[in-house]
Amino acid sequence: MVERSYRVGPSQGLQGTIVLQGAKNSVLKLMAATLLAPGVHRLSNVPRLLDVTVMQEILDSIGVTSRWIAVHELEIRVPEVSELGWRPPLELVSRIRASVVLLGPLLASVGSVELALPGGDDFGVRPIDIHEDGLSRLGAEFHHEGAAFSASAKRLVGREVVLEFPSHTATDNMLMAAVKAEGITVVDNAAREPEVVDLANALISMGARIQGAGTSRIVIEGVKELSVLDGYRVIGDRVVAATYLTALGMAGGELRIEGIDPVTMEILLRKLGATGVEIEREPMALVAAAGSRPRAADIQTLPYPGVATDYKPMLVAMLSRASGVSVVSENLFSGRFRYLEELRRFGADLISEGHHVIVRGVERLTGAEVGASDIRAGAALVVAALGAESQSRITGVYHIERGYDHFAETLQACGAAIEVEEGVGE
Ligand code: EPU
Repeated sequence: MVERSYRVGPSQGLQGTIVLQGAKNSVLKLMAATLLAPGVHRLSNVPRLLDVTVMQEILDSIGVTSRWIAVHELEIRVPEVSELGWRPPLELVSRIRASVVLLGPLLASVGSVELALPGGDDFGVRPIDIHEDGLSRLGAEFHHEGAAFSASAKRLVGREVVLEFPSHTATDNMLMAAVKAEGITVVDNAAREPEVVDLANALISMGARIQGAGTSRIVIEGVKELSVLDGYRVIGDRVVAATYLTALGMAGGELRIEGIDPVTMEILLRKLGATGVEIEREPMALVAAAGSRPRAADIQTLPYPGVATDYKPMLVAMLSRASGVSVVSENLFSGRFRYLEELRRFGADLISEGHHVIVRGVERLTGAEVGASDIRAGAALVVAALGAESQSRITGVYHIERGYDHFAETLQACGAAIEVEEGVGE
């Protein structure tokens, strides 16, 4: 297997325009949503990511074929329900966390599904009890066997469901199950993420009746049939936008990021403003400028519209070279601190206390040899390397490329000294 790594040198500041990729956490759900309607679907603004490839393979294993018809356009051909499988190979399923969103659409279309407990990222327990509670209310029955589980439903019937926590993918599953259930489903304490809204909009474009997406109460009236997604455009990836903004905060310079609604990132933009990254909001773009050293800020992650947990590793990386002491608190995932050890190799002064990290900003980071352990942890290492005074090497970048389309190339085009190296790994 060819192992890719990044060699990153000290940066003189970033300059340029970035056209943002489509959102990973939206497109994977839209691909799952195609299972709700036989026919030929087309999606545009699809990012070229390993996770998208894995989702294509999973769909392929249950009889759905897909092909690229343009660089960012995917055509997905879904057979009649009678020809759809419902048991994708567990090895494939366990490779991406997002595979859990096959639950809702397969229950709604085939009535059965077998999956592995979600994998994808290595940061703590990732239970599915909220998915299970919600879908059981609509009539699904679950069986667990080791790391695998199955669910089935002769019919799904709309009900009032209160999610114990506004879980993002559990809300996705509720939407995709309820759109074809009999009667009306009300999902209370629903996740409000922009990617949930994107999924709801896509389903509405297929003929679904959904109200309230983007609020914590979503009302879905089931319909008998849905039509295909016809060229639906995936929204921009706010986590990728946040990554480029933290890279800018670290390296300084000026960036224009196109293809994102600033409203969907407002709380983060304010936090970044407090660290000295000045950001102008345009209707679908951000224009940001930063000096050579950020200022400290206290940040806590919260469900949307709060600061997303996915931004956190890159924020910690950026703040490690800030003037002053920051406290960054994680409120969503118990184990999401594993990248700290890697950041310390750059000379970052980080103390972790329960779910808080105390970041004592240092004036200088030095280059390091580090390994990425998940998508955002890997992106954080690149942010740190951009602020280091000597060369760094980042291995395991396949993790980064699960979520970032042409990451190294994009940074390079903005003036970063980043090179991709290919060697033979195990
Ligand atoms: N939770 C439960 N039970 C459940 C589901 C969730 O206890 O049944 C807990 C989780 O353990 C966690 C919290 O609820 O503590 C939040 O989890 P949530 O379900 O909202 O997260 P997710 O749906 O598994 C999605 C994104 C993540 C992102 C989170 C939070 C996808 C595929 N993944 O995960 O994105 O961090 O929402 O916004 O949409 C990434 O892109 O790298 C990524 C990990």
